Amino acid sequence: MATIRLGDLAPDFTADSSAGMINLYDYLGDSWGILFSHPADFTPVCTTELGAAANYKEEFDKRNVKMIALSVDSAASHAEWIKDINETQNTTVNFPIIADEDRKVSTLYDMIHPNADATLTVRSVYIIAPDKTVKLTLTYPASTGRNFDELLRVIDSLQLTEYHKVATPADWKHGEKVVVSPAISTEDAKKIFTKGVEEIKPYLRLTPQPNL
Ligand code: BEZ
Repeated sequence: MATIRLGDLAPDFTADSSAGMINLYDYLGDSWGILFSHPADFTPVCTTELGAAANYKEEFDKRNVKMIALSVDSAASHAEWIKDINETQNTTVNFPIIADEDRKVSTLYDMIHPNADATLTVRSVYIIAPDKTVKLTLTYPASTGRNFDELLRVIDSLQLTEYHKVATPADWKHGEKVVVSPAISTEDAKKIFTKGVEEIKPYLRLTPQPNL
């Protein structure tokens, strides 16, 4: 097991899932991906998270992001649990959940933090770009459900900053002003960002979101 850092290649794997055997790279194809772990089946916070994720599928699809979840129980257990998730969260789980009974994928992705829990995964998130590099890692404790609006917001930022020389400020949301990359002079920025550049400090320049 190695720590996975930003910019690393996401380790590939083949594993059983609620949708049968699945290979990560084949599943993702040319899409972005989001891989997220859940401590165990039939637990309350995980049930709400998977329901939230399923209800956001359209938003992930719009951004060309494929979801894949993981829990350390069997595919048969996942199938039963999915019925409960669909019933209680008013949804249809519409992405695979890896059945990681032998902890192979959890170990590969360092999702078990033994000082938190010896056998269950923490709530890890990996956002993977189409070139299979890891663009975001995030770790929440078992007791705290994740915020799926925040994950979409990060994906918006990643996809914007991949193609434009900008970064996104604190609490930025799609449609709001962005900051000009520090690598660009204000003079050059004014040529690149034709909607205007507001220089607050030489190192703090704002411009309207360029891809709108
Ligand atoms: C939950 O998903 O509710 C949960 C799982 C493990 C520990 C605590 C909460």
